[in-house]
Amino acid sequence: MGSRWLVTGGAGFIGSSVIRELVSGMRCDVVNVDKLTYAGNPDSLKAIASDSRYTFVHADICDAATVQEVFRRFGPDVVMHLAAESHVDRSIAGPAPFIETNIVGTYTLLEVARAYWKALWESDPRKAGGFRFHHVSTDEVYGDLQGAEDLFIETTPYAPSSPYSASKASSDHLVRAWQRTYGWPTVITNCSNNYGPYHFPEKLVPLMILNARAGKPLPVYGNGHQVRDWLYVEDHARALIKVATEGEVGETYNIGGHNEVTNLEVVERICELLEELAPDKPEGVKQYRDLITFVADRPGHDLRYAIDASKIERELGWVPSETFETGLRKTVQWYLDNGDWVGRVTSGAYREWVEKHYGEQAVDGAHHD
Ligand code: NAD
Ligand code: DAU
Repeated sequence: MGSRWLVTGGAGFIGSSVIRELVSGMRCDVVNVDKLTYAGNPDSLKAIASDSRYTFVHADICDAATVQEVFRRFGPDVVMHLAAESHVDRSIAGPAPFIETNIVGTYTLLEVARAYWKALWESDPRKAGGFRFHHVSTDEVYGDLQGAEDLFIETTPYAPSSPYSASKASSDHLVRAWQRTYGWPTVITNCSNNYGPYHFPEKLVPLMILNARAGKPLPVYGNGHQVRDWLYVEDHARALIKVATEGEVGETYNIGGHNEVTNLEVVERICELLEELAPDKPEGVKQYRDLITFVADRPGHDLRYAIDASKIERELGWVPSETFETGLRKTVQWYLDNGDWVGRVTSGAYREWVEKHYGEQAVDGAHHD
């Protein structure tokens, strides 16, 4: 099972890590269906782009006819669905694409894939019996953790706070309803914050590395005491492949790295690593940490996320390989070494977003010391 994979959103941060592993590590056949929004970068798949096992289809998951044709031609054993609008701040500024891709797109994909699976029962029941649909989701569907010791478990009630997390919660509900109503063979994963190479620089970790190198302010929302549970992207990719191939149908698995860190601490650690790895600072910058600047908080900002990953560890034997220390060091080094990739993804559209979003923020003037 699992030799022919249809991945949606494979040109994004996590999807590209999954595809690199599937094609070069596991030698599987993969078709990648991606719309190439601002967040999709074929450059992230350069290492495997010319491999005969890899096929790219430039398509929107909301386009049922095209997606149907991909299923017909490729005949997947596994679908891993990652395509989504993924940035919380963008969902606050403009929710429409989140509703369209995350909810309508997931619905469209479910229906196309279900029709394919139904037909497969007639033509190839063995293949139909092994077919899996893996929906990749987020811990943000659970909302804010209240108690300092609380952890998200797979049965934590949903309480999304942002348009992004509400759209992801909706898609999870659709997938579960399809499972229950149609006997649809699904697995769902809910993961915490990823970081690592090829991360689009609108997100906290790459934004801070690149701003620091450019001598620009490091914008920390509110007081920076919000906690996220960080996981190195390649550890997530391995967990996803494990769940898709070995997870029990109908089950949900939480994935996390046991790395609870406040945002301020993340930024401070990045600054310390840069002091060591890139001591040639931009003109006028004495210490990278002097660039830390507190700005207006994100509306509806969740205070704390933390994952109990014991189910996937116990049942599937997955554990992360990287600690936050080792993973962050690799990540900072990767951004220092890959200026070409950064240059290509930070296009006009990216610059426009940064200017609009951070330009409107009320900087309280208090630099961190
Ligand atoms: P990303 O924004 O880096 O990539 C998303 C990809 O989806 C891009 O390649 C984009 O072009 C593609 N896409 C967007 N709309 C599309 C559409 N309508 N049709 C086809 N392709 C489309 O996102 P990511 O960080 O790699 O996240 C991937 C998935 O994992 C998402 O579903 C996200 O909710 C989930 N997730 C992310 C994290 C994280 O920390 N990044 C954590 C947990 C879960
Ligand atoms: O928890 C999983 C989620 O993690 C995924 O589902 C999302 O797709 C992914 O984007 C990420 O969401 P976050 O909102 O947590 O990630 P982001 O990098 O945008 O922000 C991380 C934290 O840092 C958050 O508390 C907001 C804060 N932040 C972010 C930015 C961009 C800042 O303080 N300053 C910033 O400039």
